[in-house]
Amino acid sequence: MAAVAQAQETSNVTSIKSLAESPALNSVPSAYAFNINPNDEADPNDPEFAIPIVDMSLLTSGSPDERAKIVGDLVKICEEWGFFIAINHGVPENLMKAMIDACHGFFRLPDEEKREFKSGNDVLEMFKYGTSYNLALDKVLLWRDFFKVRTHPEFYSLYKPASFSEISLEFSKRSREVALEITRAISESLGLGPDYIYNTMNMDRGLQMLAGNYYPPCPQPEHAIGIPHHTDHGLVTLLIQNEMNGLQVEHNGKWLTVNGPKNGFFVNLADQMQILTNGKYKSVMHRATVNNKATRISIAIPHGPSVDTIIAPAPELCEREGQAPKYLAMNYKEYIQLQQSGKNYMKSTFDHIRA
Ligand code: OGA
Ligand code: NI
Repeated sequence: MAAVAQAQETSNVTSIKSLAESPALNSVPSAYAFNINPNDEADPNDPEFAIPIVDMSLLTSGSPDERAKIVGDLVKICEEWGFFIAINHGVPENLMKAMIDACHGFFRLPDEEKREFKSGNDVLEMFKYGTSYNLALDKVLLWRDFFKVRTHPEFYSLYKPASFSEISLEFSKRSREVALEITRAISESLGLGPDYIYNTMNMDRGLQMLAGNYYPPCPQPEHAIGIPHHTDHGLVTLLIQNEMNGLQVEHNGKWLTVNGPKNGFFVNLADQMQILTNGKYKSVMHRATVNNKATRISIAIPHGPSVDTIIAPAPELCEREGQAPKYLAMNYKEYIQLQQSGKNYMKSTFDHIRA
């Protein structure tokens, strides 16, 4: 009986925003129940959990020695963390803020207007809007609404609110420059030269998306989840947020809440970086928690190979390390489809293609 009532309560929920705004809501409906274990949280004051910071200005305009130092630091960061915060990256603060505001503007549209942006489940839709992750597959509903827009190689945009298109065009271009600079430095850190990843992953036609997440306040934040633990499917993801924290990364077996310099980009390595490096660099597990104070907005900007690229461990690296490839080669588009099929719920897709 209770289960039936619960199902009715949530089956017609079109957005977590509208559910969270219902005045009677004082606990998490059972369809959303997810337990966070507070014992798994890292102590942010422990030096072991000091999040690496990368000063991008030293990569772009430092002396050759300064650049070499950062490239050297990246080896350790990519092996041990797969995560860092990029500062002095050149994307103007007012553009980052305008992008967050434009996202907020979209989520504030009435539900019936946002519904215009619903689409099928193909990963390469121009854009999509929804709640949770995939209502047909989700075992537990997620405390978030989202949109996703493809911004490269062809640029698409939401057409509401009116300012969205112009802001997202500029923001996605500038963020792509940051992601490519990071990619060059990582490529160099592998001893493969700065253009190796760009060239072999066909990044001139590389997939870039702009993914907005809306996490409204939750009455019992420890009993719900924004996005459960996962790794991203591309090469490198940049992320910005409004003034609320919530992103957690897994480091040395603990969950660490990312709390960093304002205006930095949170940068996580993703699956293609782990596959390309034959496991040397780490696609970091991460998740989004929710809070009971204020709405959190985050924008993830994943960057990947072109969708037709055959992804596989770099032969040059395997040879140098005397290792057999640990992952099977496959087409990047198929990899994304595998990730989104739900077969790898709360697992990394690369676990599915181990050689
Ligand atoms: C994602 C993601 C985390 C966050 O969108 O893939 O990991 O903090 N988001 O919103
Ligand atoms: Ni992610």
